[in-house]
Formats: sequence, structure tokens, C-alpha cells
Amino acid sequence: MLAQNTDKVNIDFLKDLSGVKNADDLEQIRIKYLGRNGVISKLFNQLKHVAIEDKPALGKNLNLLRSEVTSQIEKLKSSFVSQKSKGDLQMDLTLPGKKYQIGSKHILTQTLDEIKSIFKEMGFSVHVGPELESDYNNFEALNFPKNHPARDMQDTFFISKDFLLRTHTSPVQIRLMENMKPPVRAIMPGRVYRNEAVSARSFCMFHQVEGLYVDTDVTFAELKGTLVSFASQFYGEDLKYRFRPSYFPFTEPSAEMDITCFICKGSGCKICKNTGWMEILGCGMVDPNVFENVNYDPEKYTGYAFGMGIERIAMLKYGITDIRIFFENDIRFLKQF
Ligand code: DAH
Repeated sequence: MLAQNTDKVNIDFLKDLSGVKNADDLEQIRIKYLGRNGVISKLFNQLKHVAIEDKPALGKNLNLLRSEVTSQIEKLKSSFVSQKSKGDLQMDLTLPGKKYQIGSKHILTQTLDEIKSIFKEMGFSVHVGPELESDYNNFEALNFPKNHPARDMQDTFFISKDFLLRTHTSPVQIRLMENMKPPVRAIMPGRVYRNEAVSARSFCMFHQVEGLYVDTDVTFAELKGTLVSFASQFYGEDLKYRFRPSYFPFTEPSAEMDITCFICKGSGCKICKNTGWMEILGCGMVDPNVFENVNYDPEKYTGYAFGMGIERIAMLKYGITDIRIFFENDIRFLKQF
């Protein structure tokens, strides 16, 4: 009786198995045959009613059936699993790819890199100084005595009576000359701060590059030659320029360099305030008082200095009309460069 039942269960199982379509169907079959109250457990229960001499053979048969059913179920199960994982990996090669945003150098860094490489080729080294500066280096040593009206040219963020956020990179000239003997030929880039109302044309923080060349017999003609060479490499060979007399406490004589307005090409427009010219930098021959402050002999040495705003230089080159956009980190702006 048990032997017949065992054969029937085997046949039923194979029939059930052939109807399995997915992992859920298979699980139902597993419970039906191998579950605690499943068909095969019931067959084992019947063993206790069979004659003692038949038990070993019938028991063996039942064990065989159970392991056969188990292995068939496991086999089918693993085929469902591998189909599923294959399905996960399937991809549609016609779909557009994922776009990754790749960062790039900020336009101010690019502009500074270009300025540096032009001056390095002309023999200038690069030095930097701190943004928190003494009143002495920022003003006094540069020939701005206390209460001198020229201090008003640069609205200052004071940290204390004697310390401030530097208003220009010119104090790095002082640091350099105090630490080096001539000849000195260096550019000094960095951040500067001014306590000014923020607008399209001015921001409370911006960047400058300072230049300094000191040696015996340095002339204004060399200053002009160096700056014209810089400007034509930076803005293009066909550039027109002019030097206008100006005033800075630390240079004498002082000048400002203008180039033809890149928008109207010199005919006059809103950007250049109808002059046809745009100012790109301040410059001059180092004032003998400054040399005295750093213990250079003004009878022996002469030198020139210049300073330019990096934002301004970039705005003129790329036609950017609002300085604030450099600091907004708007990717639509940044990725244009
Ligand atoms: N420090 C000046 C400014 O911030 C720029 C400048 C003008 C620097 C003339 C110089 C110079 O070295 O010679 O406005």
C-alpha cells in the first residue's frame, strides 16, 4: 500500500512540476510535497503501520523520493534565480547615456594662469602675501601717511587699529623688498577687500595682480615695453593703447594704461562711457620714499610697479558686464569658459 502510494506521489509530483511557470508556483509545490504537513511527511507517517520486515526497503524508497523531489525543486529554483538576475542586467543600448557634470577651472583662475604664464616668460617670478595685513604694509610703507587723503581712495575693512584686510596687493611689494636684495622681478597675485557698496561694477572682494621690477637703471620705457607686450599677448596683436598720467602715493610718476574699448572698437559706447578707451591697470616708477622704507638706496636703484584687477581684465576680455557673476557659481555662466 505504502509502496503504491510512493509511486503515485512520484508521478503526481512530476506532473505538478511540469506545470510550474514561476518561482511562486514552485514554492507552492515545495510546500505541497516537502512542507511539514506535506505529502511526503504523510507517507513517512504511514511507515509506522507497515510490517517490521518491510520497513527498511520502504523507508529507503521514501528517502529516495524525498531527495529526488528536493533536488528537482532546487534545480528549477536556481534556474528561476539566474533568469531573474539576467533580467536585471539586461539593458537597452539605445537609451541615451547618463550625463556627468565635469568641473572646470574657474574663469578667474584661467585668467590668472594666462597672466602668470605671460609674465613668467618675461622673467618674472610669482609671490604671494597674506590677506590680513598691517596698516603699515598696506598704507604707511607705501607712502600713504596717516590721515593722508589718498587713504580714502580705498575704503578699508579694519580688523583693529593696526590691522586690516588688504585693500590691494601692493603691500606684497613691501614684504618682498624687505626680504630680498635687488634685482627683484616679480608678480604678486591675490585677493583684496574693499568696503564698497556692491554693484555691477564693484564687489567687496576681488583679485589683483601686482608687478614689481627693481634694479639699477630701470626706466619708464621698460615699464611701457613690458606692459604693452603683456597687453598685446593677452588681448591680441592689433590692440591700441595709451598711457595717461595719474596719481598713486607709491609711484612717481604714475600712469594708467588704457586699451581700445573691445565693444565699440574705439567709436564710443555705454561700456567705455563714450571715450572709446578702457582702463586696464595702474603703474608707475617706484617712489624713492618707498625705497627708503625698505632700506633700498634710492640713489642706486630705480624700479617700476603696476597693479591690475583680474576681474576687470577678464570682464574686458570676455565682455562680462557684471562683476557679481564671478562669485555666484552659476554653472550656466561657468561652463561657458
Ligand atoms: N594698488 C593700486 C590699486 O589698488 C594699483 C596699482 C597702481 C598698483 C599703480 C601699482 C601701481 O603697483 O604702480 O588701485
